[in-house]
Amino acid sequence: MSGRIICVAQQKGGAGKTTLVSNLAVAYLAEGKSVALFDTDPQGSLGKWLDIREETLGENQRLWFSTATAYGISRAIRGVDGEADVILIDTPPKADSDVRWVLRESDLVLVPVSASQADVWATHDLLDLADRAGKPTHIVMNRTRAGTRVGEEVAKSVAELEAQQLQSSLANRVVYAEALGRGLGVVEAKRNSSASDEVRALADEVSAILEL
Ligand SMILES: Nc1ncnc2c1ncn2[C@@H]1O[C@H](COP(=O)(O)OP(=O)(O)OP(=O)(O)O)[C@@H](O)[C@H]1O
Ligand SMILES: [Mg+2]
Repeated sequence: MSGRIICVAQQKGGAGKTTLVSNLAVAYLAEGKSVALFDTDPQGSLGKWLDIREETLGENQRLWFSTATAYGISRAIRGVDGEADVILIDTPPKADSDVRWVLRESDLVLVPVSASQADVWATHDLLDLADRAGKPTHIVMNRTRAGTRVGEEVAKSVAELEAQQLQSSLANRVVYAEALGRGLGVVEAKRNSSASDEVRALADEVSAILEL
């Protein structure tokens, strides 16, 4: 079976797209899977993350990376056909017509919502585009803060959206920012930690949806 394609998209900047992509990639690598990463965001954060990673860890034969335009994503994916178990696509903070090219190729769309109402407001356009593309779409709560009023309010607003939500979520933890800056996933940066547990749970939940 060819690789399962996951796109991470959210119009709001800083919601956690690159964090999700990098952490899922590392979690799947740790399971022995092969992973292809495509960055369609001109900011290039994912490529920088990988540069730093390779400076310390060297190249990994089971990890491919390429930048791609949204329009060019189909060709880029064909380039790793049959080689990668999982294909993860990072996208820019937009919900414009370009992202439709990426949605069209995806088996699953993940939409991170960081714990603020602004993220929820920014989610509608993307959900609409994913719905029109007919792609299974799940919101992933990011930077959650248990026991805070804002956390409760955002969770309530998300529950009111006509969208599925993953059970797994990522809490607001410094280790996510640290790991990103060091070219790592949190399962590497802090192996025995709540952060690692929640990333593994997220990767497992996504695997179950995609029958990976
Ligand atoms: N769960 C978290 N806990 C703490 N910090 C986080 C968490 N998720 C993301 N961050 C931090 O928030 C910042 C933005 O995250 P990230 O770069 O993943 O967002 P993005 O959606 O890819 O942003 P952009 O839209 O600019 O591409 C980064 O510094 C990242 O380390
Ligand atoms: Mg990003």
